[in-house]
Amino acid sequence: MAKKTIGDIDVKGKKVLMRCDFNVPLDENCNITSDDRIVKALPTIKTILAGGGALILMSHLGRPSGQKDDKLSLAPAAKRLSELLGQEVIFTEDCIGPEVKAKAQALAGGECMLLENLRFHKEETIKDKAAKEDAQLRQAKDDFAQQLADMADVYVDDAFGTAHRDNASMYTVPVLMEGKPRVIGFLIEKELKFLGETLQNPERPFVAILGGAKVSDKIGVIENLIDKVDRIIIGGAMAYTFLKGRGKSIGKSLCENDFIDKGQQLLEQAAEAGCEVILPVDHDVVRKLMAGAAHRTAVGDIDPGYQAVDLGPIAIETFSKNITDAKTIFWNGPMGVFEIPPFDQGTKAIALAVAEATDKGARSIIGGGDSAAAVQKLGLEDKVSHISTGGGASLEFLEGKKFKCLEILDEK
Ligand code: 3PG
Repeated sequence: MAKKTIGDIDVKGKKVLMRCDFNVPLDENCNITSDDRIVKALPTIKTILAGGGALILMSHLGRPSGQKDDKLSLAPAAKRLSELLGQEVIFTEDCIGPEVKAKAQALAGGECMLLENLRFHKEETIKDKAAKEDAQLRQAKDDFAQQLADMADVYVDDAFGTAHRDNASMYTVPVLMEGKPRVIGFLIEKELKFLGETLQNPERPFVAILGGAKVSDKIGVIENLIDKVDRIIIGGAMAYTFLKGRGKSIGKSLCENDFIDKGQQLLEQAAEAGCEVILPVDHDVVRKLMAGAAHRTAVGDIDPGYQAVDLGPIAIETFSKNITDAKTIFWNGPMGVFEIPPFDQGTKAIALAVAEATDKGARSIIGGGDSAAAVQKLGLEDKVSHISTGGGASLEFLEGKKFKCLEILDEK
């Protein structure tokens, strides 16, 4: 059943509490380096304001572990949102407490306020499992969530990037607001539509491209995709756990030794299911990873003392060929240490191949995080079908996991 959206309800004269994901990247001076997540929440925000709702926004930023940390304040997000909306966004110095409550009460229809980082309170991230086993933790999480819930008549969830978490603002608040409207925003609606349709009805060939450091983060997604995709292309440091399992010498390349057997098991499962797994056959290697390090190509085995930092030219060509003929593509994770040029060549080439396939009619989804940053850095945002705002969330969706914070929201 489809979820009710903000477009299905009347918010005039109502206090609307909206969970968004303004977990935006910041530089060392706390300047926002990509406002993508704020921009993508605008359709929901504008709809609420134009509909006469008094809008209270809440989000986390980073992982401050329950401590106030000025470097992780949402003040820059309030400023940026204000600029984007062309109206003042009231910023509160905490997310709960009497002052915040008074400000929420005084907020008029069409006005907008953003609460300070929810994770400055440790209660926000108490896991539900822990809360179930420990009455004190449950009480603390409930009390915190109740203060947020009490401020509003309507709950809106548009935080797709956090949809895989059971944080108080994501799960406990809507539970406590039972009986009041609890709906999703347009961003979540769009994300679920893209990811859901891609998995349910992919045009073939369907190719998954997985990269990044750890196999352990991607086991669930590989297991779930084996039966659904035609090919899995594996690059980045995670490839070396598979290659070592295949008996290759990988030098000093990153490897999760505890997952070598699991990796080989996944390769066997894929072979049985007729899913082709493509690993790099050559590598860009360095003795020491640093900007400007001397690098060379290693074909097959990697000498001791060397570490793979990017794809080699043959791998780039093979991967690209296997992407440009695809009709459906999901990509998560860089192909090398792309933040240190020139070790960004593999990631760049993959981004260009995805853009080329999209131009030829493929549906392409970039699963957040570093791959999204790479596509944006290359100015290819408009050349792919969808850039998800959720790295971890889109992976868990592709793992087939259910998001319990969404399950409890109102059905159409
Ligand atoms: C993300 O950036 O993936 C989301 O904002 C969730 O953040 P978290 O992994 O710290 O919960």
